Amino acid sequence: MSDKITGVGPEAQRERREQLRQLFTTPNEFTSSPLYRALSRTVAAEDGLLDLAGRGRHGQYPTFLFFGAVHQLLLSGVDHPLAGYFPSVVGPGRDAAPAEEAGPALVAFCEQYERELTEVISTRLVQTNQVQRALGLRFGLNTIAAQAAGPVHLIEVGTSAGLNLRFDRYGYTVGGRSFGDPASAVQLVAEHYGPGPLPDLDVLPDVASVLGVDLNPIDVRDPDARRWLEALVWPENHDQRALLAAAIDLTVADPPRILAGDAIDVLPGLARTLPAGEPRVVFHSATRMHVPDHRLAAFDAAIASLGETGPLWWLSVEEAPDPDPRPSPTRHGAALNLRTPDGERHILAVVEGHLRWVETFPAA
Ligand SMILES: C[S@@+](CC[C@H](N)C(=O)[O-])C[C@H]1O[C@@H](n2cnc3c(N)ncnc32)[C@H](O)[C@@H]1O
Repeated sequence: MSDKITGVGPEAQRERREQLRQLFTTPNEFTSSPLYRALSRTVAAEDGLLDLAGRGRHGQYPTFLFFGAVHQLLLSGVDHPLAGYFPSVVGPGRDAAPAEEAGPALVAFCEQYERELTEVISTRLVQTNQVQRALGLRFGLNTIAAQAAGPVHLIEVGTSAGLNLRFDRYGYTVGGRSFGDPASAVQLVAEHYGPGPLPDLDVLPDVASVLGVDLNPIDVRDPDARRWLEALVWPENHDQRALLAAAIDLTVADPPRILAGDAIDVLPGLARTLPAGEPRVVFHSATRMHVPDHRLAAFDAAIASLGETGPLWWLSVEEAPDPDPRPSPTRHGAALNLRTPDGERHILAVVEGHLRWVETFPAA
């Protein structure tokens, strides 16, 4: 396997490789994937694999991109012993080979398919569309319903395939209570924790329009794009894969409109096209975390620009709560943040990153 990271000198290459080694040595992100955690250790120990993982576009998270590429190739049906370690390829209800023994097969696979993997890693973006995050949007909209005068324009930044924008066509069961469409093929189930009450998630504002913005909108009607979304679901997560398939099937007949481009460039122009004075809600989840550090201020300013022509509610699920509003937190989660038009920031709930649980607390 070529040991070159394209286009950088030897010193920069060594430095980049060490950064990557660090990421693959502690792959804390793969909470529910023993296979990716085990294979990350193999990558961390192999310079050739680290260099391959480093061929992604600037700002793309290398561990997600690398395993997404491997997974996509396996899902496309290539015949290789590595497939036997992937629960997604082996299929639900059948045992995959032990994750801890998969390393040598990964090394052989990457040698054999280096060209194909490089093609995917260097062109694709991390675009995992977690349908379950529609629950975060619905939860936030419930709070906004009590505040917004009139129907809201909803804009999702980093919408991927736009599946969260169809939040009103899904069913939800949270802490045993049901909301939304009980007959929908997409049923999201989450736990509810905490002393705070669970709001009535059937109370929502009227929605005047929905629109997505993405660097690279995923067209759910394109089979290749669909396969990439499926490849970004970790191999063990059969339920998430089934949910994704159901949401794509539901959305394919009526996909939401998505503007292509960097939010930094697109949003200021969009602000001028929204009807002046009408309420608007911007939502982003697992998007800001992919924006390079030196672009974050511009990203935030672009979102804030939507508030220049009407009242803006800014809802997000990105980072850990800071400060944590829970008196003695026992679960690691992300803040469901809401910035209201008066500039006040509220943490509505603490949620698991994929919205598998929601923790509420009495309002301060
Ligand atoms: C990890 S995905 C999350 C998708 C979706 N928000 C969800 O929670 O399922 C991040 C998405 O953000 C998009 N993205 C990242 N930076 C962006 C930017 N500056 N402007 C627009 N989209 C961006 C990516 O293309 C990708 O589709």
